[in-house]
Amino acid sequence: MRRKKIYEGKAKILYEGPERNTLVQYFKDDATAFNNKKKAVIEGKGVLNNRISEFLLSQLNDIGIETHLIKRLNMREQLIKNCEILPIEFVVRNIAAGSLSTRLGIAEGTMLKRPIIEYYYKNDDLDDPLVTEEHIEVNGWASTLEIAQASETAFRINDFLIGLFRGVGIKLVDFKLEFGRVWNTDESRVILADEISPDTCRLWDTKDEKKLDKDRFRKGLGGLVEAYTEVAKRLGIMPEGSNIMEIKSGISKTIKLKKK
Ligand code: TMP
Repeated sequence: MRRKKIYEGKAKILYEGPERNTLVQYFKDDATAFNNKKKAVIEGKGVLNNRISEFLLSQLNDIGIETHLIKRLNMREQLIKNCEILPIEFVVRNIAAGSLSTRLGIAEGTMLKRPIIEYYYKNDDLDDPLVTEEHIEVNGWASTLEIAQASETAFRINDFLIGLFRGVGIKLVDFKLEFGRVWNTDESRVILADEISPDTCRLWDTKDEKKLDKDRFRKGLGGLVEAYTEVAKRLGIMPEGSNIMEIKSGISKTIKLKKK
């Protein structure tokens, strides 16, 4: 069936959904870093992110955090609620790494005194600059109330995910969230949108600090699909014995993809 493409991003495509106010979110195998300067196609990545993100967002829905996820449709697609994505990346950090370490000279791996949140303006031409709440408010990208609500939700998500990952031997170093506005007649609220996956988190093995996330691609370490598969296995969302080749071919019983 030919569907109308609404938007194509670096790692996902949005298509018109079957009902009003719904979309279909398709996970591609494309990996990019440094604002598209580094690119590759990594077979199987989309299938894994679809499954991992479905799992994490449904857990959040279960604890009362509203997300855009309605249900996973197949290996690469989810049915989601349509929302107006705020042009802000909300980054929560527990441990210094990545751009925080580079910008402020804090050694990677330094535990922060408490979780912090940062805002980045989603704009490829400007390389997604770090912005303040005031920049967001005066430019009309989101209201003060929306920033406050999304930030509070981001910290709740952090508390929940730290525990969930700790239980499977993974440290949640940092992650990026996106929120969208949904309307109820003339009132709006913000809900969690986009994805939560090893593409959008830093995940380190608790024992040896092995990177189990997209830094494997950013830093050219290799073994990305193997690392994402390890995350899925630890989360208990891949049946024992499912193999990477099956995921890569995208037709597996792998991920028999049944909902637990
Ligand atoms: P950073 O250290 O590069 O600023 O990244 C912080 C977190 O946000 C890290 O978990 C990776 C994630 N992230 C994205 O999901 N998308 C992006 O475009 C960037 C720059 C980071």
